Amino acid sequence: MPKQPKEKKELVHTPKGMRDILPSEVAVWERIETKAKEIAEFYGFLPIRTPHVEHADIFLHTLGDATDIVEKQMYTFRTRGKDVLALRPEGTASLMRAYIQHGMRTWTQPVMLYYSGSFFRHERPQKGRWREFGQFGFEVLGADGAVADALVIRLSVLMLEELGIGPLRVHVNTLGDSECRAEYKKELIAYFRKKVNYLCKDCRRRLKINPLRILDCVEEKCHELAKDAPQLIEYVCSDCKTHFREVIEFLDKVGIPYFLDHRLVRGLDYYSRTVFEIFLEEKRGSVKTDDKQKSEEKDKEDSEVKREQDEDDSSRMVALASGGRYDTLAYALGMKEPKDPETEAQWKGAVGSALGIDRIAEELMKKQQKKDASFFFLIQLGSQAKQQSLILLEQFRKNRLPIGSSLSKDSINQQLSYASHLGVSFSIILGQKETIDQTVIVRDMETGLQETVPQAKLLDYLKKKKKNK
Ligand code: HAM
Repeated sequence: MPKQPKEKKELVHTPKGMRDILPSEVAVWERIETKAKEIAEFYGFLPIRTPHVEHADIFLHTLGDATDIVEKQMYTFRTRGKDVLALRPEGTASLMRAYIQHGMRTWTQPVMLYYSGSFFRHERPQKGRWREFGQFGFEVLGADGAVADALVIRLSVLMLEELGIGPLRVHVNTLGDSECRAEYKKELIAYFRKKVNYLCKDCRRRLKINPLRILDCVEEKCHELAKDAPQLIEYVCSDCKTHFREVIEFLDKVGIPYFLDHRLVRGLDYYSRTVFEIFLEEKRGSVKTDDKQKSEEKDKEDSEVKREQDEDDSSRMVALASGGRYDTLAYALGMKEPKDPETEAQWKGAVGSALGIDRIAEELMKKQQKKDASFFFLIQLGSQAKQQSLILLEQFRKNRLPIGSSLSKDSINQQLSYASHLGVSFSIILGQKETIDQTVIVRDMETGLQETVPQAKLLDYLKKKKKNK
């Protein structure tokens, strides 16, 4: 007899942090992928599919030893043939590998590719954070101009906006190149070393191996200390500054408001120069960056004020899309500069973005649910009311007024909480007394205000309410 598993219950559960995407959500995922594909193809991106599994070294050599992904989140395993492989935690390193492997450097540059699929990170599951998640990514390989950086930001925004997601908030920063960043790192280490006792355990370690990551630590005490830390923009060389200025000038030109976020460092080590993240503006309606600001000095002052205002919000927000420039990733994977630069072009670098499909789908599902929610819900109490409610429901149907009800639930609390779960605007309550009086109570679910209305006037009354809401 086959051995019985210890916990049968566990067998009918997806692994922690993973889930089934059910039919209604699959439709939303397909909508996202179709829209993103349509925009990417219009702008000349070509599709590519790479394996879900790569040599672990592809990621170990590129993402950074001290990044969360490499330290804690990779699903790595040894095959029977003793290869060490990893489930891909992201797509950029794989694409760069494919670019080198297939000699795409000899193609017309830049090579613009897009991809979509599952990625895997052993993260602590929380809102919008899964261990298997979907990304739609697109990369411009072999382009150094700021226009390429602006293009990927613009396309990410377009994809989200055309899906009806917004208002959006675009955070941008420059990380400089490895040379100017080295100088900055020294200053940063000197600053945090004096405060090492106040840093969290992780940041104390980061101080030695990746001090930049202290800047975006979410621990309250580190967050506070990071506010007064030296700013990278002060150390960025003039070439990197010019590149960044051009990126934001392009964004100005295409009317994308942005927020200069000097503490945006991103969780992957391969970035240089431009980095960005795109959030859904959750609370206040406006994007706070003034797209007219031009001079760097003014940018700095303004963004600092805005950063103060927004700090609490942004630390809680989850990015819907993010990316940046990664000029040296190719070298980390072994790309060599041409022997004869006269006849062969120098490597120009690359830039790209990835959209988080799960997070976008969640937003679209929320919108869909709101749209689908009935405006009205009928609550009945007692057997007479139940009978009368069938007559009322039929009147609603004939008048084409959608109304929800639950004839199987008896207590008012149960029915009210079901109505509020559905997000209805008004509950129509029919109890014993109302059945006898031929009235109903109409409860505004937002304000809790109730009004008694004769059943004969109910439909007209509700039609007016619906019009005014
Ligand atoms: P990333 O910021 O790690 O960047 O991921 C890109 C997007 O994927 C995030 O903005 C987020 O929406 C989504 N995402 C990331 N992790 C999770 C998760 N655990 N659960 C759900 N969604 C998640 C990259 O992966 C880079 N390869 C992006 C890039 C492309 N950079 C240059 N080109």
